[in-house]
Order: sequence, then structure tokens, then C-alpha cells
Amino acid sequence: MNAEEMVQLCKRHTMYTWSSQAGVTPLPIARAEGIHFWTPDGKRYIDFNSQLMSVNVGHGHPKVREAIKRQVDELTFVFPGSATAPRARLGKLLSEIVPDPINTFFFTLGGAEANENAIRAARLYTGRHKIITRYRSYHGGTNATMQLTGDPRRWANEPGMPGIVRVMDPEPYTFSFGDDDATKTARNLEYLEEVLMYEGPQNVAAIFIESVTGTNGILPPPAGYLSGLRALCDRYGILLVTDEVMAGFGRTGKLLAFMHYDVVPDIVTMAKGLTSSYLPLGAMGVSDAIAKHFQDNVFWGGLTYNSHPMLLAAAEANIRVLLDEGMIDNAARLEPVVREEMERLTAKHPSVKGGRCIGLFGMMDLQKNSAGEPMAPYNATSPAMQALKEAFDDKGLFTFVRWGSFMCNPPLCITEAQLRQAYAIVDECLDVTDAYFEG
Ligand SMILES: Cc1ncc(COP(=O)(O)O)c(C=O)c1O
Repeated sequence: MNAEEMVQLCKRHTMYTWSSQAGVTPLPIARAEGIHFWTPDGKRYIDFNSQLMSVNVGHGHPKVREAIKRQVDELTFVFPGSATAPRARLGKLLSEIVPDPINTFFFTLGGAEANENAIRAARLYTGRHKIITRYRSYHGGTNATMQLTGDPRRWANEPGMPGIVRVMDPEPYTFSFGDDDATKTARNLEYLEEVLMYEGPQNVAAIFIESVTGTNGILPPPAGYLSGLRALCDRYGILLVTDEVMAGFGRTGKLLAFMHYDVVPDIVTMAKGLTSSYLPLGAMGVSDAIAKHFQDNVFWGGLTYNSHPMLLAAAEANIRVLLDEGMIDNAARLEPVVREEMERLTAKHPSVKGGRCIGLFGMMDLQKNSAGEPMAPYNATSPAMQALKEAFDDKGLFTFVRWGSFMCNPPLCITEAQLRQAYAIVDECLDVTDAYFEG
């Protein structure tokens, strides 16, 4: 099928996400391999966002493809009440690599469903109903997870499930809790404790956080924040739930992002990099204490495709590739290269305010003047950011441009040379935003 027919039929008969349909210009994609993908006309792109920050092992990895093909021949689907070899193997593997005491997993079809089930598990386990989440967050597009979500995608989906209390992040958008990490952490935790006082901590089942905030800014927590939050939760019998859907499976240079901070949550949710998106799978991992509770109490949740053998086979093969081919270490090893490139571009281009990263999870912010005003306002775009998007597209670099920032999240199989080549393209494109810099 040629590109034009592909685009025309997709637009005529299918709906696109988060958009008014007339305004969508889908990118036609015919094939993909490693860090690249190609249009039907043969134009090659560097995938600088791993599609949806999710194709962690890179496109078309032969071992993951083979595992999926093997599973098709062996067993495609059986009901969730059965035991299968992929389910047995993946459950065991996850219990070995996810830190103790998280040893028990419930499988879903994606991140939102993993979070839905985490809400359910937290409420059933604690007997409490309120959930605390943060404004700079995204937790999924279903009814309950839209309410967990802080970012503006929530607005049109309100009102939804009750019982969600949203709080400021340690890094709010327009002001700071302090200049240094210790102050930010201490002030934010004091503020959270005051919120708990107003809400009644005995009513709060869980606090949900992205261990490293993803879409809403690629924001690692300030030093001491996660351990402080863990202690706060423990003080009031509240569960800590970390959403690792985007930050997990090697993206930050560790298997799961919370592993950087010496804490273990009570519940962890995952998806995306769990299968590198070769097939749609999410999971909720729970602590031994929560797992024990559900030995004698019903877990009131289910899905037709829970523990689907095809998806679990893909996850197992994907995790083996991540570990055996050193891709998580590669993300950690390349972090200084990303930092160096970001610093170089910040020094060179007046329109660059700065960048940040952890592993191969990064973002650069653009400014329209030397006062640091963002190149596009919160939840909006601007001619400069549109022009940047077009420049990336012209030069065959695929990434997400969001508000006044853009993402830097390549597949974890990327080499240093490929990474520098991608930043060389970014460098050329930033001349475009420099032309909009007002001084
Ligand atoms: C942190 C986070 N949580 C949850 C989700 C929802 O996952 P899914 O789209 O697989 O339902 C996403 C998706 O981008 C995410 O980034």
C-alpha cells in the first residue's frame, strides 16, 4: 500500500487519540529496525522517542520476534484461570528481578489497566478509599486513571471516579519549593503531611507517583524525596504505588526507576518497556503482605486477556534481551553522553534553556527570551515549536515536541555514534528556534 492510500484510509475509517480528527496528519510507517523506521516511500527516520517511550530494545529484535512466533505455534490463548508455561516463567522471572518484597504479579493489557488494578488492590487491602496523586503526572486514559492523571488530558474527562486528591509535585511548574534538593524535599513533604491532616490519613489508601515523571517533564525526584515519601506513607499506613509504565524496564539505566533511590514501593505498575511494545502488556506487582491478604480475600478484578500467553512470551524474551545484551547498562553508560550533548547545545543555542536526563530518559526545554520564558505556554504550542517539529520531520528525526519542550528517548540499543548523530540533527534544527529567540 502506498503512503497516500494508507493515510487516507486510516483517516477515513479509524480514530486517532487525543485529537480532533480533521487536524491529524498521521506519519505513514511501513517497517522498522533497531533505532530506525521507514515510510512506505523509503524515507528513514531515527526514532528518538522509541515511539511512545516504549520500544526499549529497539525495533524488530529477532529474539523477541522468534519468541512470539514460537508461542503462536505452541498456544495462543487460554482462559485466565489456567496455568501456562509463559505465565509460570514470566512470574518467576519478574519475582527474581524486581526487588523484594514484590514477588507477585497481575497481568493486564497496558499501563492504565495496571493502574486501575493498583487502585483496586490498594482499596481492598487497606479498606480506605482516597488516593493521592500529583499534578505533573499521567497515569492512563481510562476513567479512573484519567482522574489519577494531573495533566490537562484529564480536564475533558471530568468528573470521573471520586476519591482522588491531587497535590503539587516536588517540582511544580511555575514555582519552586526551594533552591536546593534538601529544601525542596523537606518543604514538599511538610506540605504533603498537611494535606494528609486535612484529608484524614485514615481515609487514604495510597499515594501514586511516577518514580521519574515522564510526559510531564522527565523529572527525577529531588534527593531524599522518595525515601521521605516512603517514611510518610509508613507513618500513616498508606501504600506507596510507583508507576513505572514509562520510566521502567531500563529507560533510566536501572530495571525500574525507583531502584535509583533505595526504596521499594508496596505496589509497582509497569507496561510499555515490559514487552518493548511488541505486544500490549501491563502488570501490577504487589508486596508479599498484599499478596498474602489476597490469599484469603477475593481480588475483585479480571480481564478476558489476563495472562495472555502470547503477551507473556513476548515479555519474557524482551526482558532477556534487555538483560543479556546489556541494554540497561547501555542506558546508564550513555547518560553522560546525553548530558554532554545537552550542555553543548545549551551553550550554543540561545533558544535552549536547558536539558535533563536520567539514563536515556531526557527532555530539552526551549525559551523565548533570556528571562527563561517557555517557547510555548503550558498546554499550548507556538509557531516556534511548530517550526521545530517540522524541522525534525524534514531531517528524519522522530520525537515528541510538547508545549515548550521536546523528548530525547531513543531505544536502549542505540550506540554512542548513533546518539551523537541524532544530537547533530537536533543541533541543526535548533537554528530554527534560535530565529524566534527575542533576546
Ligand atoms: C506513566 C504512565 N502511566 C500509565 C500510562 C498508561 O499506559 P497505557 O497507555 O499503556 O494504558 C502511561 C502512558 O503513556 C504512562 O506514561
